[in-house]
Amino acid sequence: MSVGELRCIGLEKVYDNGKRALSSVDLSVPTKGIFSIIGRNGAGKTTLVRILATLLEPSSGTATIDGLDIMEDADELRRRMAVVPQEGRPLPWLTPLQTISSYLMWRGESYRVSRRKAEEALAMVELQDVSDRLNYKLSGGMKRKTLLAMVMASDAEIIFLDEPTTGLDPISRQVVWDLLTEMGRDRFLFLTTHYLEEAESVADRIGIFDEGSLLAMGNMDELRASMKYQYSVRVSFGTDLPEIEGRVLKGHDGRVQLLTTREEAMRLSDQFIGRDIQFSVNPVTLDDIFYNIAGKDIRNDAGGDEGGGA
Ligand SMILES: Nc1ncnc2c1ncn2[C@@H]1O[C@H](COP(=O)(O)OP(=O)(O)OP(=O)(O)O)[C@@H](O)[C@H]1O
Ligand SMILES: [Mg+2]
Repeated sequence: MSVGELRCIGLEKVYDNGKRALSSVDLSVPTKGIFSIIGRNGAGKTTLVRILATLLEPSSGTATIDGLDIMEDADELRRRMAVVPQEGRPLPWLTPLQTISSYLMWRGESYRVSRRKAEEALAMVELQDVSDRLNYKLSGGMKRKTLLAMVMASDAEIIFLDEPTTGLDPISRQVVWDLLTEMGRDRFLFLTTHYLEEAESVADRIGIFDEGSLLAMGNMDELRASMKYQYSVRVSFGTDLPEIEGRVLKGHDGRVQLLTTREEAMRLSDQFIGRDIQFSVNPVTLDDIFYNIAGKDIRNDAGGDEGGGA
């Protein structure tokens, strides 16, 4: 029995035009806290979110959330979940307050409770001053935050957010991260993002997707532990480097990055100190892990890295 987890078994999606967006995805993750999937444009993230949120049928395979089947128990799942799609926008002719309160009423709350919860949620995303402005007069980021406030105000225990912070300014993004962290305490959040620092800082678990397949999955420590090279050393471009075990990359910042083992990182550090060369050593980031696993840079317009882009 798979109560308490999200489980996908052999999930596949081939669109009508023959495009294979998901190839036999097997995934098991506790429905607690925040799970984030990362991957380049076209990796299949939205397809997976839409299937799990019961908005799209898989071509084959199954998935259950807390033991409920996405096909057979879709109605029950829909009562428990809320979704903010990647391209989701609030209805233009409503205000943020109306958007949220009508959604809450639709989910079964009274008018009074809906209004109060909507006001509270709008204050949390700092939209109280525009709560009565028509949605079409809001900026893109404000529209996005209205939808976030909407699901936040709901009693949904399972929340799908497809790129919740895309298009938000850095301060709003931080506000949303704090809210996501708060929401993740007593609900299950399934989010996709292109911001690796977002996944690193808010997610309890991360799944790495590429070309419709799940390449790796775990918390940051587990992902790091699965890497052959767990340290990143950076030195100026042109530094005379000794033979080492690892991968040498040309960094975006004009420096050379070496992904290597702990022992080699220590050996290099000793040498650089002896030769008075400036350098830095850090555990690999999610960016490095993605690069190493997928052999590509996660940024769509990657320039500079060896083998970057596709
Ligand atoms: N309705 C559709 N019909 C045909 N192909 C589709 C459809 N929707 C998506 N695809 C294709 O399926 C693949 C996966 O798309 P998907 O939207 O799931 O990727 P994604 O990881 O969410 O990308 P992004 O980061 O750009 O949002 C892509 O190649 C895309 O072109
Ligand atoms: Mg997408």
